[in-house]
Amino acid sequence: MSSHDTGSTRPAPTTDSGALEVAAIGQGTRRIEGRLKVTGDATYAYEADVERPLYLHLVQSTIAKGTVTGIDSTTARALEGVVAVLDHTNAPRLESTEDAEYAALQGDSVGFRGQVIAVVIAESVEAAREGALLVEVTYDEQEHRADFVADDPELYKPEKVNPAFPTDSNVGRMDRALENADVVVDQTYRTPFEHNSPMEPHALTARWDHEAAEGEPVLFMHASTQAVHGVVKTLAPLFGLDATQVHVVSPFVGGGFGSKGLPHVHDVVAALAAQTTGGRPVRLALTRQQLFALAGYRTATIQRFQLAADSTGRLVGINHEVIEQTSAIKEFAEQTAIATRHMYAAPNRHTSHRLAPLDVAVPSWMRAPGEMPGMFAHEVAMDELAEAVGVDPVELRILNEPETDPETGQEFGHRKLVECLREGASRFGWADRDLRPGATRDGDWLVGTGVAAATYPYYQQPGNRATIRALEGGRYAVEIGAADIGTGALTVLSQISADALGVRLGDVEVAIADSRLPVATVAGGSAGTASWGSAIVGASRAFREEHGTSPSVGDETTAGPAGNPNMGKYSLHSFGAQFVELRVNIWTGELRVARALGVFSAGRIINPVTARSQLIGGMTMGLSTGLFEESVRDPRFGHIVTQDLASYHVASHADIPEIEAVWLDETDPLTNPMGSRGIGEIGIVGAAAAVANAAWHATGVRVRDIPLTADKFLDLSPELPALKGHPAAAFA
Ligand code: MOS
Repeated sequence: MSSHDTGSTRPAPTTDSGALEVAAIGQGTRRIEGRLKVTGDATYAYEADVERPLYLHLVQSTIAKGTVTGIDSTTARALEGVVAVLDHTNAPRLESTEDAEYAALQGDSVGFRGQVIAVVIAESVEAAREGALLVEVTYDEQEHRADFVADDPELYKPEKVNPAFPTDSNVGRMDRALENADVVVDQTYRTPFEHNSPMEPHALTARWDHEAAEGEPVLFMHASTQAVHGVVKTLAPLFGLDATQVHVVSPFVGGGFGSKGLPHVHDVVAALAAQTTGGRPVRLALTRQQLFALAGYRTATIQRFQLAADSTGRLVGINHEVIEQTSAIKEFAEQTAIATRHMYAAPNRHTSHRLAPLDVAVPSWMRAPGEMPGMFAHEVAMDELAEAVGVDPVELRILNEPETDPETGQEFGHRKLVECLREGASRFGWADRDLRPGATRDGDWLVGTGVAAATYPYYQQPGNRATIRALEGGRYAVEIGAADIGTGALTVLSQISADALGVRLGDVEVAIADSRLPVATVAGGSAGTASWGSAIVGASRAFREEHGTSPSVGDETTAGPAGNPNMGKYSLHSFGAQFVELRVNIWTGELRVARALGVFSAGRIINPVTARSQLIGGMTMGLSTGLFEESVRDPRFGHIVTQDLASYHVASHADIPEIEAVWLDETDPLTNPMGSRGIGEIGIVGAAAAVANAAWHATGVRVRDIPLTADKFLDLSPELPALKGHPAAAFA
């Protein structure tokens, strides 16, 4: 086990031979850019230092489906400070309108409520916003579909699920497993729409240079993104530009949680507007309300789970059928059932995904897309099986541990789920637990504990490159277009660079977040460190081969990672175990999490300080989804009505107790030269299930849909031993 509170940056002492005694990897180095952030000196996208910026405000459709028949911007344009109003009749044309999410201001059709139909350009943010209110729009409205229901007549099977998993999977005979099982858990679980809600809204400052010289950027964007090269790759073809003509920087990002992993329509609108201002830069920040329609979100799910087992709890069949939602204008198929394919042994197994295409905003990535909602269902179902066969839920999971990947037959690489469960049970004090629900009472509170497993795949994105350049004084510049969205990536890449070059941490200067730097993939899929770090190690080795250990100033090498033959050969995943203790008030149904512990197996931990922050951040977000998070759509109008942080409740300090996140002390021999996997997403997986399982243990009330709001615990059963003879039972 590693503790999480090792010290801060320290100089690396050397031995007599000059070799470094202390490797940078494994040190609890504080965030390199931390001081800039806490002192307010960090420049975020909206604050980019530019001359005479203009300000943009978006006008959004008030119908969910139909056609814009007229836009009257006379009054808006007459407002002092308003420079122009662009709509589909006068905006510059895009080269491609194939992607309907990005085809802003190109036509009169409306595909969802909140779609961008005009943009006001003004001398001040106030004038832009007021101008947007004055734009008058008329529509020819058509009937829309915005109600997500299990029996949607238009349900369809997508060709694949995000990013490229088979939609369905079938092994053995699930029907026979159900017939022959001693015990069957057959239940439906639901998860709601959820919005990423980063603290910094999606924002950018953009400039279009009509006189750019050959080889110079035409479009410059200071954006808030998880992938500078990703923005270039998406936007350049839309505007008929070469990649070299788009320059994107994103030095500081106030959170993304997946919603900044891909460009969204505001990026396109800002670039369109910047073409019309005679070279003046434009600034655009989405309002909090606009984030609920224009920046992606997690689809709601309806999941049927069947677990077929023998009388001891050994699984003979697993069936997971998912219904979820996409937008009719652009498909996003969340991979909700993929974790089910490798979690537990069972000879008969079936997983499937079906989508309801609705006239609604476009869903996208949100922290652990797939694993988060899918493992909620799987791990509550496992708790129900434990209840049905009278087996301890930790032991039930260990009993069903597979020897090889149960779907592919591949060998697992470094699968340590059992170790996580055992270590967690020991740290949490699980051994004394009473299996019966409702057995523990403390005054007006029923107390329970719950467990759930977590998993997340190991991804390493291909195509990353890094440049190493020798500087004065034995120092090195390391360049890669990676992104630090608050995770600590800059710090961690500096540690990897120092070790790869065999120098002190202070002797490397790592530059990231600029599309002029070597190509780097998205800060997503928990794959940043693995993907970028491998490129840095590869480039460092190539540099040493070319230039040796005493290079001349200016010597430089650009290279990518060595190939990894283990990818595709082994089933590579991270695992974890989540433990929660919570209390439910017998009068009000109020839930209070008392303790949370996560034990993770995520490969080598590069930096225990930033890693702990990622893991407890993920766990906090997971507890938040268990307790509060839910976006409510009004199907009559087709938009999310809980479109602010008052009605879309995310956990605050008062909701979250001390959380403990620990990890197995390990180095993964199969993944990459660092021996790491990924930590950005696994912390959220399983947390909501642990909450639901603990709530059942506290009360005997089984809740199969999140969030676990108080109303779900208002009829606490009078049969509960804890309530017998208590006045609360009279209300049941
Ligand atoms: Mo993350 S949802 O893969 O950006």
